[in-house]
Amino acid sequence: MRIDVVTIFPEYLDPLRAALLGRALDRGLIEVGVHDLRDWTHDVHRAVDDAPYGGGPGMVMKPQVWGAALDDVCGERTRLVVPTPAGRPFTQRLAHSYAAEEHLVFACGRYEGIDQRVLTDAARRMPVDEVSLGDYVLVGGEAAVLVIVEAVVRLLPGVLGNPVSAEQDSFSDGLLEGPSYTRPEVWRDLAVPEVLRSGNHARIDRWRRDQALERTFRRRPDLLERLPEGSLDEHDRAV
Ligand code: ADE
Repeated sequence: MRIDVVTIFPEYLDPLRAALLGRALDRGLIEVGVHDLRDWTHDVHRAVDDAPYGGGPGMVMKPQVWGAALDDVCGERTRLVVPTPAGRPFTQRLAHSYAAEEHLVFACGRYEGIDQRVLTDAARRMPVDEVSLGDYVLVGGEAAVLVIVEAVVRLLPGVLGNPVSAEQDSFSDGLLEGPSYTRPEVWRDLAVPEVLRSGNHARIDRWRRDQALERTFRRRPDLLERLPEGSLDEHDRAV
């Protein structure tokens, strides 16, 4: 997979080269390009924004600069992703769908956003997604790109040491993952639940499922409502 990011703060994306993502780069599982939007300006001030039509606070990013940048960076098989609080929610399902793409381009907006015509125009040639990480406002799309890329790249074959980790994630079955424990058996007078030390794998699986159901019910009841028909058996419903 190739990932390109266009931003006015290229250094903000340095963490893409660290840790898990850095290893995926070194092993040739992903290629990453980070581009300074100002490279596509032609004026002495290298201006990327202008006042909004209709008035109001803030500045809007200029269509000419973004248009030229995306013309150069996007290709035949690009999916364009624009992080914005006005987007649709980024979910594990969307992460899986991005993990199947050949080329992702991220356009990082700042200020009051990018002139909408940039996205309307791009959508004539490629799929364009405006996505939000959640109901809060960041200063720009850069931090969101770090989050989205990490969620996507860990799903690529060969990136995680143990692929079963990705299969057992929170959300992979529509539920939050339950608690985990390691040694020692008792720590600060707190004991690991007995069932996990029982060696009885049927009991352990049942216990984990119950914990996941309880946690989801307490913390994210909205997720239970969205489970596909037939995901809960009789025992689940009793929990
Ligand atoms: N840019 C600013 N706020 C954002 C959010 N909540 N999600 C994605 N991108 C953003």
